[in-house]
Amino acid sequence: MNRIAIDEQAALAKIRGAEDALLALRDVRLAYGNTAVLNGIDLSVRRGQAVSIIGPSGSGKSTILRCVNGLVSPQSGEIHVDGIDVRAQRTDAQRIALRKRIGFVFQQYNLFPHLNVVENLIIAPMRVLGRSRAEAESDAHALLAKVRLADKAKAYPGALSGGQQQRVAIARTLAMRPDLILFDEVTSALDPETVGEVLNVIGELADEGQTCVLVTHEMRFAEDISDEVFFTEGGVIVEHGSARQLFHDPIHERTRLFLQRARGEDRTGRARRRVQDDA
Ligand SMILES: Nc1ncnc2c1ncn2[C@@H]1O[C@H](COP(=O)(O)OP(=O)(O)OP(=O)(O)O)[C@@H](O)[C@H]1O
Ligand SMILES: [Mg+2]
Repeated sequence: MNRIAIDEQAALAKIRGAEDALLALRDVRLAYGNTAVLNGIDLSVRRGQAVSIIGPSGSGKSTILRCVNGLVSPQSGEIHVDGIDVRAQRTDAQRIALRKRIGFVFQQYNLFPHLNVVENLIIAPMRVLGRSRAEAESDAHALLAKVRLADKAKAYPGALSGGQQQRVAIARTLAMRPDLILFDEVTSALDPETVGEVLNVIGELADEGQTCVLVTHEMRFAEDISDEVFFTEGGVIVEHGSARQLFHDPIHERTRLFLQRARGEDRTGRARRRVQDDA
C-alpha cells in the first residue's frame, strides 16, 4: 500500500472509531430541585477503552455514572450505550435489559452474606440470563481464578477481607458479561494493603480490552490505566485528554490545582500509613 492509501485508511479508522462510541453523553443536565448537579456533560468512550473521571468531591462524578445506567434521569441531554437511547428506556423490562449490559461496581460490595462466593456469582446469570447451574458454576470458577480467589469458592463473604470481597464483587459483575463496566471509587473503603490487589485486577481487565469507566481518587492508577481522563468540577467537564496530557500538562489552572492537592493528600496518606506500620 502506498503512503497516501495508508493515511486514508488511518483517517477512515479514526472516523469509524469516533462513530464506534460504546458510550456517548451529550450536554447532559441534571438538577435536584434548584440545585444544578450536572451542567452539560459531554463524554464518550470507545469500545475497549478505559476512561477515568477525576475531580473534587461533589463535582458530579457518581451522578454521571448513575445517569449512564439509568439509576437517575437527567432533565435533558442524550445518553447512548451501544446505540441504545438510555433516556428512552422507560419500562422496567427495558431498564433491566439495559442494566444487563452495564456492570456497576460500587464502594460497598453488597454481596449476599448468606450465600457462599460461588452462589453469589451464579445467582444473576441463572435468574437473569437463564444460564444452567452447571454452566454458571463453571463460569464462576473461571472468574474466581481470574481475580485470584480460586481457593475461596466455598467461603462466605463474612470470612473474607474487604479486598477479597471487592474482587468477588468484580467477578460477579464479569459473570454477566457486560459490554461496559462502571467502577465508582471501588477501593476507597479498603485497607491500604488490599487496595493494590483490587487495582491489579481492574488493570488486567482494562489491558484485556474490557471497556470501563472509573471514578477514582487513585491518581497514579488512573494515570497508568486510562486511555483518556476527564476532570470534572461543578458539574462540568473542565478538560479531558490522554492520561499523559492531563496529568503532566493540564491546560486549565483548576485541573493543575486539583492535581497538586490530590498528590499532596496522596503523600500524606502514604506517610500516615508508614507511621502506622512502624508503630
Ligand atoms: N439524591 C440527591 N439529592 C440531592 N442532591 C444530590 C443527590 N445526589 C447527589 N446530590 C448532590 O449532587 C452533587 C454531586 O454528587 P455526586 O455524588 O455525583 O458527587 P461526586 O463527584 O461523586 O462526589 P464524591 O467524590 O464525594 O463521591 C453533590 O453536591 C450532592 O450533594
Ligand atoms: Mg461519588
